[in-house]
Amino acid sequence: MKLKGSIIMEQKPKGTYDLLPNETIKYQALEEQIRELMKIYGYFEIRTPIFEHSSVFHRKTELSDMVTKETYNFKDKGDRDLTLRPEGTAGVIRAYVENKLYANQGLTKLYYLGPNFRYERPQKGRFRQFYQFGIEAIGVKSSSLDAEVIALSYKLIRSLGLKQVKIKVNSLGDIASRNTYKEKLSTYFEPYKEDLCEDCQRRIKENPIRILDCKIDRDKPFIQKAATPYDFLSVEAKQYFDEVLSYLDSMGIDYAVDKKLVRGLDYYGHTVFEVEANIKGFGAQNVLGGGGHYEHLVSELGGPDLDGVGIAFGMERLMMALDSENIELYDEVNPDFFIITFDKTIHQKALGLLTKLRDYGFKGDIDHEAKSFKGQLKLAVNSKAKYFIIIGEEEVEQGLFTVKDSITQTQEKVTLEALLKKLGK
Ligand code: HAM
Repeated sequence: MKLKGSIIMEQKPKGTYDLLPNETIKYQALEEQIRELMKIYGYFEIRTPIFEHSSVFHRKTELSDMVTKETYNFKDKGDRDLTLRPEGTAGVIRAYVENKLYANQGLTKLYYLGPNFRYERPQKGRFRQFYQFGIEAIGVKSSSLDAEVIALSYKLIRSLGLKQVKIKVNSLGDIASRNTYKEKLSTYFEPYKEDLCEDCQRRIKENPIRILDCKIDRDKPFIQKAATPYDFLSVEAKQYFDEVLSYLDSMGIDYAVDKKLVRGLDYYGHTVFEVEANIKGFGAQNVLGGGGHYEHLVSELGGPDLDGVGIAFGMERLMMALDSENIELYDEVNPDFFIITFDKTIHQKALGLLTKLRDYGFKGDIDHEAKSFKGQLKLAVNSKAKYFIIIGEEEVEQGLFTVKDSITQTQEKVTLEALLKKLGK
C-alpha cells in the first residue's frame, strides 16, 4: 500500500504481476499454438480448482521445499484445510481418480493451463503467482509414452521457433534403484553433516536426494561430487531408460542425458526431463519446463495402481525465452474501419452503420463522446483502422459514405454495397 496525499493507492502483492492488454495478446497467441499442438497429439483440456484440500499436495511422501515450505495454506470458514495449488499434477490426478477416468482403461491424455502459487523469493522469471501449461498422460507405463512426452516438449519448442534450448533427460530408476541410491547418498553425506544447512541435515536420513537440489547447499563441491541416480539403476530400470533413449533417437529428438538431473518434486520415478533455455542472467530460471514419470501418485491419491508421465512449462518463462530470441507469435491485426461523423445529429445513423458492419464481422469503432471532427480523426488515426468512414449531411441525403483509405490516403464516395465490398465482403 502506498500513500498518495491522503489517498491510499493499492499495489499488487509481491511476486505477482498485471498482464496488460499489449502483453496478454502475446500470451493468447502462445496459448493458441499450444492448443493446436494438443489437438495434434490427442490431449484434452482439464480445468481443476485453483485450491484443493491441503492433503492433495501435503502427502507423506512429498517432502520437497515447494510443498513443505512454499505453499499458501489457509482455513476456510468451515475450518477446512485448503491449499492454493503450487503445481498442476496432483490436482489433475485427484480429478482423474475422483471422476474415475481410469474406467476408460488405457491411456488418458490431459492438458491444463492456469495459475499456480508458490511462496518463493520473487526474481526475474520467478513469481508467487505464475502460469503453467502442463500435460499428463495417465494410465499406462510405457517407455514409448515417456519418449512421446519428451518429443512433444521438443516439438513445442521447435514450433515456437526457439533455438537456444536444450532437453535434458535422466532416469531415477524404479523403487529398488532409488532405495539403493538413497542409502548410498545417506552414507556419503553423513561425514559432511556439519557443512549442510539445517534442512539438509534432516534430509540425510529422510530424503537425501533432496539435498542435491537444495537452494542453499547444491553448489557445494562435495554435493557436486555425490553419486548420481544413474549410477544405481537396476538392470530393469536401465533397460527401460535405454528404450526411452532409443525411441527419442528414432524420433529425431535432440537431447542430452544429464546424469545429475533429479527434479524438485518427490513423486518421480524412472524418466525425468527438463527443458532449458540459455538466456543470459537468468540462472535457474532458465528452466522453461520440467517433468517426468510417476509410478505411485495415482494410487497415493486413492486410485488404482497406475503410472503417469507429464511435464509443465512456465508460461512467463516461455515468453521470456521468446522475447530473448526476438520471436513474435502474433500479427498485430488492425481494425477494418473507424466511423467519423460531421455532427451529432448523424450519430444515430452512424450507430446503425456501426452495428451493421459489426454484424458482418468487421472490426471497428466510433467516438462516443461527441468529439469534434478533428477529435474523431485523431481517434481514427490512433486506432490504426484501414478505412475511415466519414458521414456528413450530404452523404446521408445521397445514401452514400465517404471512405478514406488510411494507407493510400485516397478517398471516394461509395454505396453501402460498395463499402461492404471494400471491407472484404
Ligand atoms: P516444476 O518443475 O515445479 O514441475 O514446474 C514446472 C515449470 O513451472 C518450471 O520449469 C518453471 O518453468 C515453472 N515455474 C515453477 N515455479 C515457478 C515460479 N515460481 N515462477 C515462474 N515459473 C515457475 C511441476 O510443477 C510438475 N507438476 C511438472 C510435471 C507435470 N511433472 C509431471 N507432470
